Amino acid sequence: MTTATHAADTLLWSAGDGKGRAARTAEILLTLARLGFGELVDRAWWLRWLPDLHPPTPEEPPAEPGAVRLRQMFEALGPSFVKIGQLLSSHAGALPQDYRQELARLLDSTLPLPFPVIEGVLAAELGETWRTRFAALDPQPLASASIGQVHAGTLPDGTRVAVKVQRPGAQAIFDRDFDIVRDLVRHTRLHALLHMTRDQLDAIVSEIIGFTQAEFDYCREADAARRLGAMDIPGMRAPHPYDDLCTRRVLVTEFLEGPTLNEVLAHLDDPPWLHDHAVDRDHLARQIMRNQIVQALRYGFFQADPHPANLILMPDGRLGYVDFGIVGELDDQARRDIVDMALFEMLDDFEAVWPILVRYGMPTPQTDVRAFRAEFKELSARYKREGTRSFSGRSLGFYIEEQLMLYHKHHLKVATGWATYLRGVIVYGNTAAMLSEKLNFMRDNLPIFQEIKARQELSDLTLERAWTEGVLRQGYDLQRSLRALAVLLRRAEEGELTLLTDEGPRSEQVGNARLRAAVWTALLLLAAWATVTLRGALLFGSVSWLTVGLPAVAACAWGLAVSLRRLRP
Ligand SMILES: Nc1ncnc2c1ncn2[C@@H]1O[C@H](COP(=O)(O)OP(=O)(O)O)[C@@H](O)[C@H]1O
Ligand SMILES: [Mg+2]
Repeated sequence: MTTATHAADTLLWSAGDGKGRAARTAEILLTLARLGFGELVDRAWWLRWLPDLHPPTPEEPPAEPGAVRLRQMFEALGPSFVKIGQLLSSHAGALPQDYRQELARLLDSTLPLPFPVIEGVLAAELGETWRTRFAALDPQPLASASIGQVHAGTLPDGTRVAVKVQRPGAQAIFDRDFDIVRDLVRHTRLHALLHMTRDQLDAIVSEIIGFTQAEFDYCREADAARRLGAMDIPGMRAPHPYDDLCTRRVLVTEFLEGPTLNEVLAHLDDPPWLHDHAVDRDHLARQIMRNQIVQALRYGFFQADPHPANLILMPDGRLGYVDFGIVGELDDQARRDIVDMALFEMLDDFEAVWPILVRYGMPTPQTDVRAFRAEFKELSARYKREGTRSFSGRSLGFYIEEQLMLYHKHHLKVATGWATYLRGVIVYGNTAAMLSEKLNFMRDNLPIFQEIKARQELSDLTLERAWTEGVLRQGYDLQRSLRALAVLLRRAEEGELTLLTDEGPRSEQVGNARLRAAVWTALLLLAAWATVTLRGALLFGSVSWLTVGLPAVAACAWGLAVSLRRLRP
């Protein structure tokens, strides 16, 4: 780093730059004391760092509520703390609502670095001849945040690019502060302020630090851009990275034209603007949800920083994704489980949902599994009772948030990929709900869940598996399918499933009768299929499948006939 860049950098970090660890710890402790959090600090630790001072005890109780003071503390302590505060605010279910709302107000308001500093990093990363690699580079940044700054540029062949450059020295400052934050968690009762145990806060903070440290390697972002770009998702676009211009601290990607979703949200009351930018709010809302589902559940890899500034509405109507600092991954089993869970939720089948729930929330010694189960079941039933089964974006967000609250309350440790996915659903759901009131998560996405499910099943159909698992597996699937169909049938009888049809109220009865006919047809086919394939097998050891299968076929045929009769005008 040159002296010039270092001097400029020093000017631009509002807090903490240039300090050693002890001085920075003292600064952090004094800030805690000033904001009335001195009481939370473990005295022995405090004295170790500040031998000449007495622990601060505010004479009067602080005027501002804890949440506001905590936000002020993060602001006062500079970019690394702002980053932690922002990520904390996304921890739905773990942090109390008032703290989350207050921390969400933290803005990444770092001053832009002067252009010569950016040029210095480009020279250090791409070599002294770096200028020949660009035809132009706009000195005015598009965006400036705590880790990096983005400039628009042009390659010699005329391609427009976005050039993201990391702040020199940022990683060292973050690393030093993260060490101190780990100590803070260990030696203060900040966890009590946030109504959690020290272990819980420690787990959350460690996850945040892990994510943030990974953001310092821009090569990972380039990889992520490539992985997302290779996905075949019609409504989605990821920028192509230029590998020969990407290093740990420089990322050059194709420029995606169009307003960010942030800008779209800021213009919701401005119909001419929306018209000029061809914004179809309902379509956009559905696309936001669908893109996330397909990335995560079909491909198992997804952009996990759901900030609306990271989504760009492109002129061709597709959604462009930028910023792959935080990505999530789901393995094959987790993807199957999420798809199954969504489908079982639609079928009200709590018994089927339960084993999946506990697979991704690991019980700890403090967990009372029975109490957790009872509360979860009650939560699920409450959402169904309140008629939110079909889920607008927001009610889905509330539902998931309450689920995460239960995991937290009962001290279950939620798997990272799973929690990252769910937190994304909450934020994307809220954004989508702002765009459209017509959003109906279940109805809009049922076909996608079914399609993904079908792909998963198909990939299972190897000959070897078919032979080894044979009759048993078929019997199990059949039993599950029959149960699912029985629930569908019951819900159709209760008149609820009209939600899944596009018919108006007038044709509700016809819709229901059609649905019943469809379900009976499916049952008939299933029964017939099972009777043929399992005819040789014995049920309960002695009864032949045929003696059960044939009456089942007859019963389904009769059910179908009755519903068809009801369909007659
Ligand atoms: N490839 C791109 N095309 C168009 N705009 C981009 C591109 N990459 C980044 N931007 C703009 O720059 C902003 C900041 O970039 P981002 O990668 O999100 O940085 P940060 O990690 O600091 O949030 C984005 O919100 C977007 O507006
Ligand atoms: Mg961003």
